[in-house]
Amino acid sequence: MAEPLVLGIESSCDETGVGIVRGRQLLANEVASSVEEHVRFGGVVPEVASRAHLEAMVPALERACATADIDLTELDAIAVTAGPGLMGALVVGLATAKALAYALDKPLYAVNHLAGHVAVDLLEHGPLPTPCVALLVSGGHTSLLRVNSITSGITELGSTIDDAAGEAYDKVARVLGLPYPGGPHIDRAATGDPSYVAFPRGLSARKDLLQHRFDFSFSGLKTAVARWVESRERDGLDVPLADVAASFQEAVCDVLSAKAMDACAATGATDLLIGGGVAANGRLRALLAERAAERGINLRTPRPALCTDNGAMIAVLGAEIVVDGGRPSSLDVGADSSLPVHRILC
Ligand code: KG4
Ligand code: ZN
Repeated sequence: MAEPLVLGIESSCDETGVGIVRGRQLLANEVASSVEEHVRFGGVVPEVASRAHLEAMVPALERACATADIDLTELDAIAVTAGPGLMGALVVGLATAKALAYALDKPLYAVNHLAGHVAVDLLEHGPLPTPCVALLVSGGHTSLLRVNSITSGITELGSTIDDAAGEAYDKVARVLGLPYPGGPHIDRAATGDPSYVAFPRGLSARKDLLQHRFDFSFSGLKTAVARWVESRERDGLDVPLADVAASFQEAVCDVLSAKAMDACAATGATDLLIGGGVAANGRLRALLAERAAERGINLRTPRPALCTDNGAMIAVLGAEIVVDGGRPSSLDVGADSSLPVHRILC
C-alpha cells in the first residue's frame, strides 16, 4: 500500500493526541493537554493525567476525523503508543485503539513513542537519508540515536545517566519560581547574558568522554543552579532571572549540540534531526543550526508543535510500518512503560 490512511493515538504523558496521515501527508493533528491540571502540583500526576485522557480521547478523535474530513471506516490502519510512558495513561490510548481496531476490523500497530518523535520529521522533510543521527530531548528521555531505518533500525548511541533535559528545565524553573512545565518559561525568560554564570557541562571533561562520549548528565547542573540561587538569597541579593536562565540554558544546549555534532562525526551521518519537547527550544535550535552549518551537516528541525507530544507522530510511524509490510500487533498487546527505543513495533 503506497499511501495508507492511518490514525495515530498518543497518550503516554499529559497530552491526548489524535493524528491522521495519508502516507507522509498530515491531515489532522488534534492535541488536548491536561498540563493546566498539573500546574499546582509542579509536575504530572499520573492519575490526573489518566482521567484527563479518558475525558479528552473521544472528542479529540471526533475533531480529528472532522478536520481530515474522513470517516473511520476509510482508515487502513490504527497506530497507538505502546510505551514508554505512564502506565495508566498509556492504557487509555491502547484500549481506545484496540476497541477501534476490533470494531472496524482494521490492523493495529502498537508502536514506540520515542521512534514517533523521530518519525514525525518525515511529515515535513521527507525520507531520511541513512545513516542519520537523531537527538531526542524530552521530559522523560534524552538520547542520541543512530537511525538506519525508522521502522526497524534505531540504535541508541548514548542517553542521560540521570535527569532528562526537559526534566532539568522543569526542575530549574521551579528553583527560579517559574511555573510548570518549565521549558517554555525558561526559553522565554533567558534573554540575559549566557556567560553570567559558568554552570557545569555534564560528562564533557576529557576523562568523562572516554566512558560517556554520547551520554548526558543534567543533575549536577540542576544542583549547581539551585546552590547558586540559594547563596544569592542567603546574601540578601537579587537573582537576575534573565541571566541565570540564559546561563543554565546555554549549559544544556552547549552539551546537547556538541555531543550531537560528535555523534554525526563518529557515524559519518550528514543529517541530524531533533525531536521531543526540548527540541522546541529557541536557543537549542539556533546553536545546532550554527554548529551544523560550520560542519556541513543538514539539520532537520520539525516545527515546535510537532516536537512536543502529538498523535501525528504516531500516525506517520504507523504509516511507514504499513508501507514496509510490518506485521500488525496482536489485540492483546500490552502497554510497556519502559519500552526501549529499539523496539519500534510491539
Ligand atoms: O516530548 P514532550 O512533549 O513530552 C515527553 O515525552 O516528555 O516533552 C516535554 C518536555 C517538558 O520537560 C518541557 O518543559 C519541555 O519538553 N519543553 C521545552 C520547551 N517546550 C517544551 N524545553 C525547553 N524549551 C522549550 N521551548
Ligand atoms: Zn514525548
